[in-house]
Amino acid sequence: MNQAALILIKPDGLKKSLTGNILTRLSESKLEIVAAKMVRVSKALAEEHYKHLTDKPFFAEIIKYLCGELHDRRKVMALVYWGDCAIAKCRELAGSTNPEEAEATTIRGSYGRITTSGVYENVIHVSSNEIEAEREIKLWFNPGDIIVELYPVKEISKVKKVKVWG
Ligand code: PPS
Repeated sequence: MNQAALILIKPDGLKKSLTGNILTRLSESKLEIVAAKMVRVSKALAEEHYKHLTDKPFFAEIIKYLCGELHDRRKVMALVYWGDCAIAKCRELAGSTNPEEAEATTIRGSYGRITTSGVYENVIHVSSNEIEAEREIKLWFNPGDIIVELYPVKEISKVKKVKVWG
């Protein structure tokens, strides 16, 4: 069954120059990348992404983490992987959320750590299920950013200023 999964390479992954390694590991899945972009993450975007975790003691820290405040790297690489069992395949390659519990050969097991304040710096985010994947992909991407039509779209007329090459 074809599925889509949102992957975020978080600021620690970018600061440690791990993009190539992470994408190589993920390529073992034989899935297709159908969208990719660099994002400067606002507090509002991070809070919406992790909105189910607002009552957790680490919430404030993971917002700072995703916004890049802990690594002086204010960017995240967002990708959509698509194909058969995409979520399970990406999660297997990523390893357990807790980097200390992740198999050593996985992405998080190789590159993740837990900070002294107990926050997981696990270098990537992977959607946990299809419902979350749809919510997250719609949050991080517009339909036109994705090269396949993953979810139904509608056309509306919008009048707004856009930047073009000068
Ligand atoms: S839940 O409700 O705990 O099962 O949530 P989950 O979907 O696993 O996502 C938890 C995200 O918070 C990050 N994080 C931590 N989780 C648990 N404990 C600690 N100490 C912690 N620190 C950070 C965790 O990495 C999950 O984010 P993602 O981006 O999915 O890795």
